[in-house]
Amino acid sequence: MPAIQIYKDIYWVGAIDWNVRSFHGHTYSTKRGTTYNAYLIMDEKIALVDTVYGPFSDEMIERIKEIVDPQKIDYIIANHVETDHSGALPAIKKIAKNAKIICSAKCKDGLSRHYYGNWDYQIVKTGDTLKLGKKTLSFLEAPMIHWPDSMFTYLVEDQILMPNDAFGQHYATSKRFDDEVNQFELMDEAAKYYANILIPLGSLILKKIQEVQKMNIPIKMIAPSHGIIWRKDPAKIINAYIDWASNKTKPKAVVVFETMWGATEKMARKITEGVTDAGIEVKLFDLNQTDRTEIIKEMLDAKGYLIGCSTHDNDMLPNMGGFLTFLKGLKPKNRIAAAFGSYGWAGGAVKGIEEAIKESGVELAQPSISARYVPDENELKNCYEFGKEFAKKIK
Ligand code: FEO
Repeated sequence: MPAIQIYKDIYWVGAIDWNVRSFHGHTYSTKRGTTYNAYLIMDEKIALVDTVYGPFSDEMIERIKEIVDPQKIDYIIANHVETDHSGALPAIKKIAKNAKIICSAKCKDGLSRHYYGNWDYQIVKTGDTLKLGKKTLSFLEAPMIHWPDSMFTYLVEDQILMPNDAFGQHYATSKRFDDEVNQFELMDEAAKYYANILIPLGSLILKKIQEVQKMNIPIKMIAPSHGIIWRKDPAKIINAYIDWASNKTKPKAVVVFETMWGATEKMARKITEGVTDAGIEVKLFDLNQTDRTEIIKEMLDAKGYLIGCSTHDNDMLPNMGGFLTFLKGLKPKNRIAAAFGSYGWAGGAVKGIEEAIKESGVELAQPSISARYVPDENELKNCYEFGKEFAKKIK
């Protein structure tokens, strides 16, 4: 695939990682792969905005060579330290020896701790600009969206926002633009990205969007560092982020369970029936059958969570333990959750789930429901009613 002109004198020179299926140290499953987007801006001065993951360095450099001799690059804008965007810095700096790295103070610190290169840096802050010739770059620090070093770059004359991870999606495709791809897949990946990475940062994201709106800068195109570029409808993803960051949910329940010999699964199915019969949308997931990243995505627009597990060694099973550790980190707001599960002689799982729900900041609906060994007909009826009652809470 060649370098692709995305706008006048601006080229995509990134890389497509078609087969990556596990990202961020296995915290994120990427069933559709991903892309690392780097952008080359040609003007009197030449700038490269971000790079790619290290193993794709040669690919990026070959794409740059189609447009210009990489030695001629004057500036490398590093919007973010994380290695999927900075990994190719050592390789490109070996060629573009005189290129100055433009980044935030925290980014310089982070890059120094990653690469230990004796590089020429220029620190920028919000409001600073860099004139390339006809084009001007304006910088906007975006700390904790999603790292302390994160920064957005705005191309003033072209009205293009390059916000690095924000508004991105892990979505490998031969197409580069929003109007060229399947809309369901696109929004599915954008939601999954938000749910698994950005949920805890909602209030900061809202503030940053408001800050940009107050600046009254027109945005014709959003070119993130993963996935496709929003050129047809950038407002679509901005509005989606506003909804997600506002913790807007709908009357929908997600039932997640882990079961040892099927008793907790029986409970989960009856609870799901109860929610369904109360007229509320519900999705049921066996944690050992569905990938966690996908379940978290389903939880993004759901008001209620029903979390169940069998007891093992006086506590929950290990996959549920991992799932709840992840949930505690996400801290979703404006949600309600309830716990359920089976046990043999001593309980423990339900108590553990209750504690994790409380620690995640999600409202705990009580009472929880438990069954000893295998639920009988009466207990299953209670599970059905439990689902129905829970549905009322999220209506
Ligand atoms: Fe895509 Fe925070 O790196």
